[in-house]
Amino acid sequence: MATVHVLDHPLIAHKLAIMRHRDTGVKEFRELVGEIAALMCFEATRDLPTQEVEVPTPITTARCRMLAGKKLAIVPILRAGLGMVDTMVGLIPSAKIGHIGLYRDPQTHEPVEYYCKLPEDIDQRQVFVVDPMLATGGSAVAAIDFLKRRGCKQIVMMNIIGCPEGVAAVQKAHPDVEIYLAALDERLNEHAYIVPGLGDAGDRIFGTK
Ligand code: PRP
Ligand code: URA
Repeated sequence: MATVHVLDHPLIAHKLAIMRHRDTGVKEFRELVGEIAALMCFEATRDLPTQEVEVPTPITTARCRMLAGKKLAIVPILRAGLGMVDTMVGLIPSAKIGHIGLYRDPQTHEPVEYYCKLPEDIDQRQVFVVDPMLATGGSAVAAIDFLKRRGCKQIVMMNIIGCPEGVAAVQKAHPDVEIYLAALDERLNEHAYIVPGLGDAGDRIFGTK
């Protein structure tokens, strides 16, 4: 069973507390999504392979480490996952970006696919799937299913808030996929929203409600 990493860090906890507040406005919410994504990216990329290189400094030659040419891709689940992309690409400028469009049917809560565009060589890349919310896990499982059908072998899931139901769904369907969360909340409510959660992440990022 793949590990669930719940990132226990004062900066993440502080930013998440502001994000959760019902009075936090769109601008601040969007900024916080990006900032937390960057902090999570720092941890989720900890095991990337590096290689030793020699760098001429103004003083002498330094033995340094650089990324060992591993190809990466960031795949946001639309819409809300888009909020996590910019700051992550800022940290990993060579990453390619794919998009998977899914929305939850309001009645069944099942994911409905409406868009997919991935880098041609996605099967050669380590993929970071990003979405602020892991609720029933339906969207995450569908996105990972899709990536595996396209030949992806190394997939990491990054969500800002998860819950036990969503974690269990991903672990059952995809036991090889590591999950990174900024917080593991209590449960889902009767509308399949995360409790205590932060409400509808997409609406709060894009100001649609
Ligand atoms: C939200 C969220 C996830 C999904 C999580 O998206 O961003 O993609 O719900 O729920 P699940 O784990 O039960 O599948 P939503 O469907 O509201 O679409 P949006 O991003 O377009 O608002
Ligand atoms: N999607 C959201 O945006 N929030 C939830 O709590 C659950 C699904």
